[in-house]
Amino acid sequence: MRTLTGITPSGTLHIGNYFGAMRPAIEAQAGGDCFYFIADYHSMTSVTDAAERRSKTHGIAIDWLACGLDPQKSVFWRQSDTPEVCELTWLIGSVTPMGLLERAHSFKDKIAKGISPNFGLFAYPVLMAADILLYDTNAVPVGQDQRQHLEMTRDIAIKFNQTYGETFVVPEAVIRNDVAIVPGLDGQKMSKSYGNTLEIFGDEKALRKKVMSIVMDSRTPAEPKPDADRNICIQLLRLVAPKDVAADFEARLRAGGLGYGDLKKALFERYWDFFAGARARRTQLAADPGYVDGVLREGAERARSVARVVVQRARKAAGLD
Ligand code: ADP
Ligand code: TRP
Repeated sequence: MRTLTGITPSGTLHIGNYFGAMRPAIEAQAGGDCFYFIADYHSMTSVTDAAERRSKTHGIAIDWLACGLDPQKSVFWRQSDTPEVCELTWLIGSVTPMGLLERAHSFKDKIAKGISPNFGLFAYPVLMAADILLYDTNAVPVGQDQRQHLEMTRDIAIKFNQTYGETFVVPEAVIRNDVAIVPGLDGQKMSKSYGNTLEIFGDEKALRKKVMSIVMDSRTPAEPKPDADRNICIQLLRLVAPKDVAADFEARLRAGGLGYGDLKKALFERYWDFFAGARARRTQLAADPGYVDGVLREGAERARSVARVVVQRARKAAGLD
């Protein structure tokens, strides 16, 4: 059973990304065959500066390794190191109906936002399908927002198989319904587009300030708070502190007597401790760019050995051999 997912190198990772996507992916490594890649070709539809792409790609590789991606257990590589994916994009793109791509929510949303569309943006789901089909993937863990892209991948695989004979494994999406949505510092879903994030890595002083500035209501510390379970700090504390510690803070907030300042202080400390190991590993990794490049190079070789076989199979099926 092969699991594969792509990570777009955009923005700085926040704890919503960690609990929603990274931790499940890292835990899945225990079960074996995991393929994880940094989707730098995909970033071309949003990032148009070469230096920025290089630094984001390197940065996100370090972030994932620091958080526990283990290159001994998983294949971890940079998408553009396996250019076979571009060839496969053409092969499968040639059986992909225009109507399918025209219905893509992500494309329609971008147009609605006034982004002037280019071919890359329109073809994005085909490249994503190629990412998946190129590695005979069975399961693709993704967030809810990617569900439609996975349906398109399945449609494209089935269409190719019908046209040229059984060639591709038809993958299943694994939508993470079990992972709760991590709230942002303002109570909405944590997202880089809402500016309400708590980053995994960053400057201690600035991050402490972010936590201490979480807006609470005007009730006095002494007042009992029957809605303590919905408090943002309590919700975040549940993620980063042991269960009994979070439950104790919740009980004290509910009963009255715990001030918001003390609660925020406790949240910051638990959060800071929670990521202490990852932070230390990140510092080490950042000091050794050669190591990270080596991991990605080796991952690319392993990924490529699978990609070559599958692209050859597709070429043969289509009479391009
Ligand atoms: P953002 O919303 O900040 O732009 P992305 O869309 O890049 O985040 O999300 C990357 C991954 O992290 C997705 O798989 C998504 O499901 C997960 N994720 C993002 N924000 C949250 C959140 N607040 N709670 C849980 N998972 C999240
Ligand atoms: N489009 C995905 C996102 O924005 C990233 C991605 C690219 C991906 N290729 C993929 C995810 C293949 C899963 C499988 O999050």
